Amino acid sequence: MSASTAFAPLRNDTFLRACWRQATDHTPVWLMRQAGRYLPEYVATRARAGSFMGLATNPELATEVTLQPLERYPLDAAILFSDILTVPDAMGLGLSFAAGEGPRFAHPLRDEAAVKALVAPDLNKLRYVFDAVTSIRRALNGRVPLIGFSGSPWTLACYMVEGAGSDDYRLVKSMLYSRPDLMHHILSVNAQAVAAYLNAQIEAGAQAVMIFDSWGGVLADGVFQRFSLAYTAQVLAQLKREHDGQKIPRIVFTKGGGIWLDDMGGLDCEVLGLDWTANLGDARRRVGGTKALQGNIDPNVLFAPPEAIRAEVASVLESFGVPHTDASQPGPTHIFNLGHGISQFTPPEHVAALVDAVHEHSRRLRA
Ligand code: CP3
Repeated sequence: MSASTAFAPLRNDTFLRACWRQATDHTPVWLMRQAGRYLPEYVATRARAGSFMGLATNPELATEVTLQPLERYPLDAAILFSDILTVPDAMGLGLSFAAGEGPRFAHPLRDEAAVKALVAPDLNKLRYVFDAVTSIRRALNGRVPLIGFSGSPWTLACYMVEGAGSDDYRLVKSMLYSRPDLMHHILSVNAQAVAAYLNAQIEAGAQAVMIFDSWGGVLADGVFQRFSLAYTAQVLAQLKREHDGQKIPRIVFTKGGGIWLDDMGGLDCEVLGLDWTANLGDARRRVGGTKALQGNIDPNVLFAPPEAIRAEVASVLESFGVPHTDASQPGPTHIFNLGHGISQFTPPEHVAALVDAVHEHSRRLRA
């Protein structure tokens, strides 16, 4: 018997149904970065682990922090606690998170020799991620589905070339425009690596997978399609469609991607994630016939008092429009989320107001 056949049956399938454009009795909600520093219990577990990577590489502690937001809020999905940068770390780039700073690579890709030496990682180096997936899936015990994830080939390349976060993407765009051959090499290695990484998460128990193209939106029109979208499509083409008799929906989130919705509508995936600059009703008219939509409240709404949060939640739900309620056939569906990750300065009780407002108001819209 494989480990995964022992998993408990799913009790709340609202999120997965919405991924497949099936009617649900409320709009499912989860939040990007729902496990993180805005929760004091996360900060405490991270302190026990000693560092962010200490936490991410320890399946037991990664399980604990994945479940923390679910203990507080009636969220409709869990997301693996890890980071997109584990993949370039396993490629030998040497990831570290200095306290109070963002991520940093000791060996960024700065010259032709480094780029040519790049190969997809040995998945054994990422065993801790797959072990965390299985451990989280067991601990969830069928409560809600578990989402696995990866960065997109382009978003990973940004960090791999810049060596850290960037304001202007000068180094990675210099390479893209002056040595497109090198950039294409990085992106095709990344696409192989990401596909293998997501497939291993699916085999370990992930019930949906999400590709974070956080920096796709910094690219020029035309360049985005060739250097980001084309490689996301390569990843999607290699993903397992099914595991343990369950179909695995695939979500693609491109921050700033709303202007390329018609191109993104052609991707072979089930769900498109949108940031707060997009209008959900417009997106529904353009791609809602084939894609579920995920998003897209501005995370800064969470700094306002609960009354204002409830009003903004209603406005996002209403911008999507009349919910699909016909159980006999698929239709346009919405998965509520933020337009980007939750801020570390968010008051935890404001998150409770948001989640409750999504459930309440989306039920009212169906009544
Ligand atoms: O959503 C979740 O709860 C799952 C966990 C998750 C993390 N990172 C944990 C994390 C996910 C899905 C990510 C994805 C990720 N990581 C992205 C794509 C999504 C996005 O936000 O655009 C990116 C670009 C990264 C890279 C990364 N990791 C950065 C830029 C940082 C530092 C930023 C910060 O908030 O300090 C990280 C670190 C990180 N990854 C933290 C968490 C909770 C905070 C680190 C800490 O605890 O000290």
